[in-house]
Amino acid sequence: MKNIKDVENLNGVKVLVRLDLNVPVMNNYVVDDFRIRKALPLINYLYKKGANLILISHIETKENPTLEPVAKHFKKLGIDCVFEKNYKKVIANNSRIILLENLREHEGEKKNDKKFAKELASLADIYVNEAFPVSHREHASVCAITEFIPSYAGFQFVLEIEHLSLAFKPDHPFLFILGGAKFDTKLPLVEKFIKVADKIFIGGALANDFFRAKGVDVGDSLVSETEINLSQYLNNEKILLPVDHILKGTAIMDVGMKTMDLLRVEIDKAKFILWNGPLGAYETGYKAGTLQLSEILADATKRGAETIVGGGDTLATIAELKLEDSFTFVSTGGGAMLDFLAKGTLPGIEALEKSV
Ligand code: 3PG
Repeated sequence: MKNIKDVENLNGVKVLVRLDLNVPVMNNYVVDDFRIRKALPLINYLYKKGANLILISHIETKENPTLEPVAKHFKKLGIDCVFEKNYKKVIANNSRIILLENLREHEGEKKNDKKFAKELASLADIYVNEAFPVSHREHASVCAITEFIPSYAGFQFVLEIEHLSLAFKPDHPFLFILGGAKFDTKLPLVEKFIKVADKIFIGGALANDFFRAKGVDVGDSLVSETEINLSQYLNNEKILLPVDHILKGTAIMDVGMKTMDLLRVEIDKAKFILWNGPLGAYETGYKAGTLQLSEILADATKRGAETIVGGGDTLATIAELKLEDSFTFVSTGGGAMLDFLAKGTLPGIEALEKSV
């Protein structure tokens, strides 16, 4: 995989930069700019080297999925970018930094369509993938494009691979904390890391599946629709589950204090901690366990433990507590982080490895 930092002369070079600017927007304002800020080092570097930048990204919002608010936000952050809705007008536009409208307005994007990829490639001289969070998708601007234009990995992209790969050869004791829901997407991680980690703490709705498998009455708690066979893990001493809960009626909504005490003991022992997913029903306000966990992990980082965290709700907690700089590494990825950890690669990485 070629790295953009190894390209010596970028003066006057047109660089197509695939970013992941899929950020939360409310009333036309960006409400969490973590991913945008993580793109700034590459943008500023390319700009200073004299390159002309064409920034491309998708955005998924319920109403009006446009990148216009992101363009406004870039300006606030000191990036003088011009927003362009019409891809065909880019060639005639002499601005040094152009942000193009949502890639997913084009049918070819999600289909990994070669014709669309070729059109995108024709806009520039080289391509950089700085969009790790969408690199688990076989989309035109992530995969097919690399067949038509010299392609490079961006700064954050490389950092993601380097830091997440630490989990494959971690320092021990290694504690893996896995929360959230959708066990079907997370079971491959349990399967893989049960061999590598010293302890896996399962929280969030995932733990409810374990309780159900053990025959515990979980009342109205959120569980996976189809029962998952967890029999091989039920008596595994590496797996830790919550020992008390916050309830709403009969539904488990968050972990209780005894569970946090148990987690703290494990965190204090660990040299390497990987965390993805909230411990409670975060989106309905049951955040206490997740917030406390963020603080405990930030303290663990101070005492020298390696802490790698990621996932949408996990990032929201960290942002709420202003703890973004308090961990060894905060991944910008959600699904991509999980897929990379499970498989050790992603379609976007493989595309760069094969690229022209
Ligand atoms: C994300 O937010 O996880 C990425 O931007 C990918 O978005 P997607 O799930 O809509 O492909």
